[in-house]
Amino acid sequence: MQLRLADLDRAQRYKLLTALVVPRPIALVTSVGPEGIVNAAPYSFFNLFSQDPALVVLGIERREGPVQKDTGRNVEATGEFVVNLVDEDLAEQMNLCAVDFPPEISEVEIAGLGLAPSATVRPPRLAEAPAALECRKLVTLLPGGGRELVVGEIQAVQVRDALIDPATLRLDLDRWRPIGRLFGNLYCRTRDRFELVRKSYRTWLAEREGRST
Ligand SMILES: Cc1cc2nc3c(=O)[nH]c(=O)nc-3n(C[C@H](O)[C@H](O)[C@H](O)COP(=O)(O)O)c2cc1C
Repeated sequence: MQLRLADLDRAQRYKLLTALVVPRPIALVTSVGPEGIVNAAPYSFFNLFSQDPALVVLGIERREGPVQKDTGRNVEATGEFVVNLVDEDLAEQMNLCAVDFPPEISEVEIAGLGLAPSATVRPPRLAEAPAALECRKLVTLLPGGGRELVVGEIQAVQVRDALIDPATLRLDLDRWRPIGRLFGNLYCRTRDRFELVRKSYRTWLAEREGRST
């Protein structure tokens, strides 16, 4: 089946594309509002795009109106945000933070989450998050359709001590249990893993010819 995007409306595009491009990581973004209220909201149009510079992108949809979401408005005003990564233990609270509370209500308080100071940006991170990326906004793209693409540069990373070996920077995958978003209300765990060893062309050729490298 071939589907031309021009033939699909917004809702159909969303349904199709978000079910195909899965799983997506979840950024539980903390930002600070004009009254100093800490806002937290999940975004799964999110990923890491490079390490030098270390860039993440958030895809924030405007509400009908169009009206900016609190996260978009706060990031535009302050230029700073924190991506709290979401593990199995944080899943329920992350979902609560997705309620469209008005700006004067802090999702952090409603979800009973704690805050911890960031090292390089004003918005705090969530104390319960296994890891957090402190980001400064580099640029916001407005490609149309009520969509804001916020490109952020990571200034510092906070990782729970028990998850990482400080000497090797290797993460313990049995303790680091991120969840991914599938589509609609579906999520996945990341416990079912398999390994594929990546080869060089030289190794691939040697193996094909039955010799060792
Ligand atoms: C797992 C999950 C992922 C979400 N991803 C996005 C997203 O990528 N973009 C978006 O605009 N809204 C997304 N939402 C909806 C927002 O979290 C929701 O609109 C929230 O109220 C926005 O809060 P804010 O106004 O405090 O920023 C997502 C919701 C959930 C539960």
